[in-house]
Amino acid sequence: MSRFSERQHADFRALNDSIGFDQRLWRYDIAQSMAHASMLGAQRLLTEQEAGELRRALEQVADELDRHVFGFGEDDEDIHMAIERRLTEIAGPVGGKLHTARSRNDQVATDMAMFVRDRAELDVQACGALASRLVELAEAHLDWRMPGYTHLQRAQPVYLSHHLLAYCWMLLRDRSRFASVVSATGSLPLGAGALAGVNFDTDRQLVARELGFASVAENSIDAVSNRDFVLDYLAAAATCATHLSRLGAEIVLWSSEEFGFCELSDAWASGSSIMPQKKNPDAAELVRAKAPRIAGHLVAFHGVLHGLPLTYNKDMQEDKEHLFDAVDTLSLCLSAVHGMLEAITFRRERLAEAASHEFLAATDVADLLVRRGVPFRQAHGIVGGLVRVALEQGKQLSDLSASELSAVSPLLDGEFYEVLRDGAALEAKVSEGGTSLARVREQLDRARAALA
Ligand code: ARG
Repeated sequence: MSRFSERQHADFRALNDSIGFDQRLWRYDIAQSMAHASMLGAQRLLTEQEAGELRRALEQVADELDRHVFGFGEDDEDIHMAIERRLTEIAGPVGGKLHTARSRNDQVATDMAMFVRDRAELDVQACGALASRLVELAEAHLDWRMPGYTHLQRAQPVYLSHHLLAYCWMLLRDRSRFASVVSATGSLPLGAGALAGVNFDTDRQLVARELGFASVAENSIDAVSNRDFVLDYLAAAATCATHLSRLGAEIVLWSSEEFGFCELSDAWASGSSIMPQKKNPDAAELVRAKAPRIAGHLVAFHGVLHGLPLTYNKDMQEDKEHLFDAVDTLSLCLSAVHGMLEAITFRRERLAEAASHEFLAATDVADLLVRRGVPFRQAHGIVGGLVRVALEQGKQLSDLSASELSAVSPLLDGEFYEVLRDGAALEAKVSEGGTSLARVREQLDRARAALA
């Protein structure tokens, strides 16, 4: 018997069914059904025998799903209904008792929270592993000089270790963002029923303990409406993917002949179908391009939830494809970047040569004047004038003679040439968080401690 007398329209089914993508929740759905059945038994809402029969049948369903022999049926709208249908085929009418004191609304919220928790935990690991790889690379290239850039113009020299560690800190922040996503999944929705609570004396704490939730959701209305943890995951993923895209972009630039700063291993590059000499950084380019896709899922799902009246609305089924694609895309990008960084080689000479131009020490010359009492703004102008003179004469700054210098400022003496000495500008960056070797070593210690 049913309230409906007509079959659903095929196009409605196509729109409404989520079985095509929510199948991947099956392990969580089985786990929560097991916990729910145990709780119903413990609370005498089912006999121990009925609870045992349900658990045994759920085990069989899980086994069929695991071995990919589970037969999905025409009317299996989503994974929850598919599992309950098969459970009832196996266990008989007692299968129909599993949904006592439960609704698909608290059920799906629980599956999603468990899924997000697991994925965020994996991302915590992956971000940590990538940050560790960056620490190793920084250690191996500790005193390799390279130009630091602003506006993609050579700006000031830095050590390659310092540049690589910048990404390490981004990933450590990503790791803590994913850790807070894990906490955001910590309260159990199950037991909220459709929205108002249920008419039975359930034990939600027992279910929470069994499923690894730290607490139970305080408000049944909030419990079935809440998808904050999905938004939190998507936000963390979008930021992490954005970091990876910047690294991808630098690998693309650096591996070009123009820069020549690094070379990717053949395993992470492809050839051209026409130009036999080409080695293209496709993986780095694709990592660069994936970030907006994940950010798009975040924006789209904000769009789905914004203005939705409480409590559950079918709109919320749209959480899945946005989340699943973000999860899969991010995990692929994290592995790809890790793989690329396993086998990347840097070219010390090219990096050093690009860092060696004396103009990169122009700020250091200005600071020499500042130490002699010249206001910085004025010193900036004086050195700008020197740069122009050098450019006009096609010279390096150190080619300017002592008399040319004193004509510009009487304060420019022999120390001018010291400041321009190769490497002096790097070792002068002694401020906390700066690029001098001593500061980079401190940074490495802190990064290692954060990862320990
Ligand atoms: N497939 C649904 C979803 O993903 C499950 C919840 C359905 N609940 C309902 N009241 N129709 O959101």
